[in-house]
Amino acid sequence: MIDLSDAVGFFRANFDTDPSTAIESPGRINYIGEHTDYNGGLALPIAIDRGITVVVGDGLRGTKIRATSAGQRSIVDIDLDDLVSTTVFDGWSRYLLGGIKVLLDEGYPIRGVDISISSDLQLGSGLSSSAALLLAVVYAITLHNDINLSRDEVVELAHRAEGQYAGANVGYLDHYAIGFAMPRRATFIDFSTMSHSSCEIPFDELLVVDSNVHHSISSGGYGERRRECERAAEILNRRFISGASVEEVQTIADVELRLRAMHVLEENARVEEVRNEFSQGKTGARMLLDSHKSLRDQFRVSCPETDLIVESSIEAGAEGARMVGGGFGGSCIVVGGDPSNIERVVRSKFASGGFGPPSFFIAALDGSLKRVL
Ligand code: GLA
Repeated sequence: MIDLSDAVGFFRANFDTDPSTAIESPGRINYIGEHTDYNGGLALPIAIDRGITVVVGDGLRGTKIRATSAGQRSIVDIDLDDLVSTTVFDGWSRYLLGGIKVLLDEGYPIRGVDISISSDLQLGSGLSSSAALLLAVVYAITLHNDINLSRDEVVELAHRAEGQYAGANVGYLDHYAIGFAMPRRATFIDFSTMSHSSCEIPFDELLVVDSNVHHSISSGGYGERRRECERAAEILNRRFISGASVEEVQTIADVELRLRAMHVLEENARVEEVRNEFSQGKTGARMLLDSHKSLRDQFRVSCPETDLIVESSIEAGAEGARMVGGGFGGSCIVVGGDPSNIERVVRSKFASGGFGPPSFFIAALDGSLKRVL
């Protein structure tokens, strides 16, 4: 996480006043359970020690919303009355304003505010920067206005803002993963009942490799997979694919739809298995590899760069690795082996394959959504 004093310093430098509240919102890695959330399945995400810090203060005390982000050049400056009547947002501010807009839609009384955003989470890296920002904004603005929301409500509103105003028709995974994260614990989520519990993680950190191929979730492939899954569920006559059996899925005539559905059922089973392994102090590394192969061959959301990260990490001695998040780029997690050796091998494979360089970092698994000021 960005140092709180740096985040507060950035706020002061922009608004020349003291802030009242700061929220840290972590990125997440999804340890296992990919593309299962909108299919009524299972997932096991973990929040990390990188994320977004949102700092807010009274500002001009009127009805103005002013916001600035360390990663963006433009400053947002809008009157609350104008925000009430705006329904379409573009650019980076749609996450920020979307988070405020859902609160206005609910009729909550909101006053003007100054907001600064600092981050050490790469946008589009598959580590859920957008959900982290939305959760931080919703949480910060409610605290700033003395609105008392339960964590479930914060999660629900952040998810709604992403679909309605940020233009990303995503599932609940990221908002749940961040909203309910507990340090050093994984969140086991069952999307068929929208319930969750947490379990201990038998290790402290993970190697994350960002392919540096970044696609916005609103750019096609993700939505196409969702529609395919909806068609498969319709054929199966189920609300969600996860409610069907393997035998039923095998009767789907369309080969591609059958593969998508098989991925979902097998991935759900892997989530259960990894949770079991965690309870025995094991990493479930083999399941990570199976998950990646299924995302590559059945769900078809990996890309040459993430495939290469996984293959060369294993070659370099890792026990398991897989892409995380929506796919078509983004990051991979790597379990076991010597991180510096893995980095060396992956870097050299990327160079000889003619790909741009990936980025590496060790993530501590102790993130949670919290007030820090
Ligand atoms: C993205 C979406 C999530 C989920 C994953 C795939 O991260 O935001 O809702 O569907 O992809 O598991």
